[in-house]
Amino acid sequence: DGDVFKYYAQGHWNKSSSGKFVPIINPTTRKTHFKVQACTQKEVNRVMESAKTAQKSWAKTPLWKRAELLHKAAAILKEHKAPIAECLVKEIAKPAKDAVTEVIRSGDLVSYCAEEGVRILGEGKFLVSDSFPGNERTKYCLTSKIPLGVVLAIPPFNYPVNLAVSKIAPALIAGNSIVLKPPTQGAVAALHMVHCFHLAGFPEGLISCVTGKGSEIGDFLTMHPGVNCISFTGGDTGIAISKKAGMVPLQMELGGKDACIVLEDADLDLAAANIVKGGFSYSGQRCTAVKVALVMESVANTLVKKINDKIAKLTVGPPEIDSDVTPVVTESSANFIEGLVMDAKEKGATFCQEYVREGNLIWPLLLDNVRPDMRIAWEEPFGPVLPVIRINSVEEGIHHCNASNFGLQGCVFTRDINKAMLISDAMETGTVQINSAPARGPDHFPFQGLKDSGIGSQGIANSINMMTKVKTTIINLP
Ligand code: G3H
Repeated sequence: DGDVFKYYAQGHWNKSSSGKFVPIINPTTRKTHFKVQACTQKEVNRVMESAKTAQKSWAKTPLWKRAELLHKAAAILKEHKAPIAECLVKEIAKPAKDAVTEVIRSGDLVSYCAEEGVRILGEGKFLVSDSFPGNERTKYCLTSKIPLGVVLAIPPFNYPVNLAVSKIAPALIAGNSIVLKPPTQGAVAALHMVHCFHLAGFPEGLISCVTGKGSEIGDFLTMHPGVNCISFTGGDTGIAISKKAGMVPLQMELGGKDACIVLEDADLDLAAANIVKGGFSYSGQRCTAVKVALVMESVANTLVKKINDKIAKLTVGPPEIDSDVTPVVTESSANFIEGLVMDAKEKGATFCQEYVREGNLIWPLLLDNVRPDMRIAWEEPFGPVLPVIRINSVEEGIHHCNASNFGLQGCVFTRDINKAMLISDAMETGTVQINSAPARGPDHFPFQGLKDSGIGSQGIANSINMMTKVKTTIINLP
């Protein structure tokens, strides 16, 4: 079948022997836009074998050569930004400009990773034994960082390119090989991205990209004995993976319920602008989206009005014309969001706008006077719906934030830096932003979630370190 995109293995583009495909539904038209191969477990086995073999010689390839290839891939990626972005528009309804930004950001990430990698991995440690009680200076210890082996990368639909390269580039610079399982929505963008690495000339088998049904190859991949590290970004599946995976390092980012605490002394224009950007960009389908605003009662009316004025200016429609709010990724996602909205309605939330939905397109909606008994107070809609909870004390806000099972990021708006620092210390999240909406980037910053939001820390340097282990050689003097 000519119009089914091939998967990438052993340095070639291949058809699956299954003869089956997975359809990719355009969220805007709700029609099949692309098809990808439904790979079999046998094909996964072959991919794992070649990844293992290729890794051995890649680990011996000089670091500067690995970096050079990554720089080349980064340049090719940026050159091909248009067709890749076009896929993002059609597969995940990412607004056209944001889609281009994702590809450019990805190229920059790959280059930065190459630069950071040569520094981090170019250094080791030298220790002497006589600092520890009872020892003479008879042992010299040399440390270096060695690769883990085969890294399995599983990015989510919302950044199929950027959150793929944020795993691929650190893995490769550190001397690992990569098996990529892209999300179904976004798989073709990921295949195009992989093609850029192919064009850069990486050795055969070092990078593979298998597509297919989660039910057929999902568990098989994550439980595969050939895998030496899993880097996953996504939803609840991550919790299941962490229970099933073998004794391998895990890097996981599993969503959040990022709270935005607004104090009485906040710059309310700044807060409103960040809440709207943080809550509604890419239709709220970011793990770092503002997912609940906790606003001091005394400023709530003013702030809600400012937010509503900005919401009124958001454009709603297809991604091709750069609408601010575009259709959410799947019908089931839209149904889930609608369930949260209806629950809030039954329980008496104030609707600042009318709830409007057409297919997968949901108009931006601010729900005021949300209370803790409503599902939307705790669950992440991953859609353009934002709850406001009015609070009477800072403690109440911190309490709500910390009662969540998530702990990705949070933010606080205040002009009092001392208060902001105390609140940051009290919030049980991986990051707290002072006077700005949560965000992962810049991509070299550490990025991590507490509790159900994840395992480990990302960001370029952390990812490189995470994808290595320490090796020591000890010289014993007579
Ligand atoms: O969806 C999860 C991403 O890691 C968020 O990245 O803050 O750049 O949108 P972002």
